[in-house]
Amino acid sequence: MKKIFLNLGRQPLANSFLKDISKKTIKREFFYNLKICFDTSNFLVSIQRPVNPKKQYTNEYAHRASESQTMRTAFKNIAFNLKKKFRPSTILEIGSNDGVFLKNFNPKKVIAVEPCKNLANITKKKFKTYPEFWNLKLSKKITKNKQRKIDLVFSANTISHIPNLKESLSSLYNVLSENGVIVIEDPSLLSILKNNSYDQFYDEHVYVFSAIAIKCLVKDYNLRLFDVDKISTHGGSLRYYICKNTAKYKSTSKLKKYLETEKKNNLNKFETYKKFSNRVKKSKKNLYELFKKIKRQNKKIISYGATYKSTTVFNYCKIDNKIFDYVTDTTKNKQGKFTPGTHIPIISPERGINETVDYAFLGAWNFKKEILKKEKERIKSGLKFITHVPYPRII
Ligand code: TMP
Repeated sequence: MKKIFLNLGRQPLANSFLKDISKKTIKREFFYNLKICFDTSNFLVSIQRPVNPKKQYTNEYAHRASESQTMRTAFKNIAFNLKKKFRPSTILEIGSNDGVFLKNFNPKKVIAVEPCKNLANITKKKFKTYPEFWNLKLSKKITKNKQRKIDLVFSANTISHIPNLKESLSSLYNVLSENGVIVIEDPSLLSILKNNSYDQFYDEHVYVFSAIAIKCLVKDYNLRLFDVDKISTHGGSLRYYICKNTAKYKSTSKLKKYLETEKKNNLNKFETYKKFSNRVKKSKKNLYELFKKIKRQNKKIISYGATYKSTTVFNYCKIDNKIFDYVTDTTKNKQGKFTPGTHIPIISPERGINETVDYAFLGAWNFKKEILKKEKERIKSGLKFITHVPYPRII
């Protein structure tokens, strides 16, 4: 049974940055109600009513996975490790974005699936690319003329975005070779609960997985979870290793231990989520009060990184251009646009990060280390960072 535990209110699409803020554009902006629920039968956390993916993954999709050094290095390392461990002769990536993972492989061995046409146009220059949504039809098309099925399916921050999880899983089974491995990375539910990072809930994260939920879910598709890695990307993620029931891989002790940790933290109980919801309400109140206090001192506050996460925070906490002068972001196609729902201008860091700024809110808190290192000199000359993770404070 699905039970709602968190209501993050009226939200826009997190990655739909506005080209202008004319009356006409604002009137057309899409909003939905972001409510999060827990399924007591399989421990799955999900959005109550997902948005139609055709509205989200358009040819104007803004997110570029290769935008940060942290992610470029993370994808390079995992590509190297997976090659060494499984020696795959065919690799399929679902949600290949701008090719940041695939570029570490021999293009002859690789297939990319990416429904956002602007991104698929980047990867198709080098790799066989299907500019389509992941589903049963596509999985059949991919394997139709193949002697062998796929040895390694990799998908980072994508499976959790696809509303039809059942079809998604049976399509994965469909393309997999007998001893093939599916490697999925997605934000970890336990990290979200520990970090109070409610901003990991937004329209694209239809599901937030845990190992106990994945273990339960894949069983219905003759698949088996056999290992898990804890990783630091996106503020704490999990990498799941899944194979066919009949494949040669044995369940690892690492997986057993991690499943126990999730149970010890009561991820299988609804009360845990109700408590989290109360912490989120408190975080909203405290963050808003912190900003108000700084504004009363006539200080200038900006936001650092126009992230999907900050869309959730701004709209839930009702933070707009009365608090922030602007948001800075390194991504060229976000610059000159406006934040979804709150309509704060986005400019380049070169223009926006200077001695007039007193405080910068870490919208991209998952890149805290990288950012604090980059801004070392500015911090020395007085710039202060604010974060809401795990609780609102000046760093
Ligand atoms: P994401 O968290 O939604 O993936 O996006 C991170 C955003 O933060 C992305 O648009 C790039 C931006 N960013 C900066 O503006 N400066 C930085 O130093 C880093 C690491 C990211």
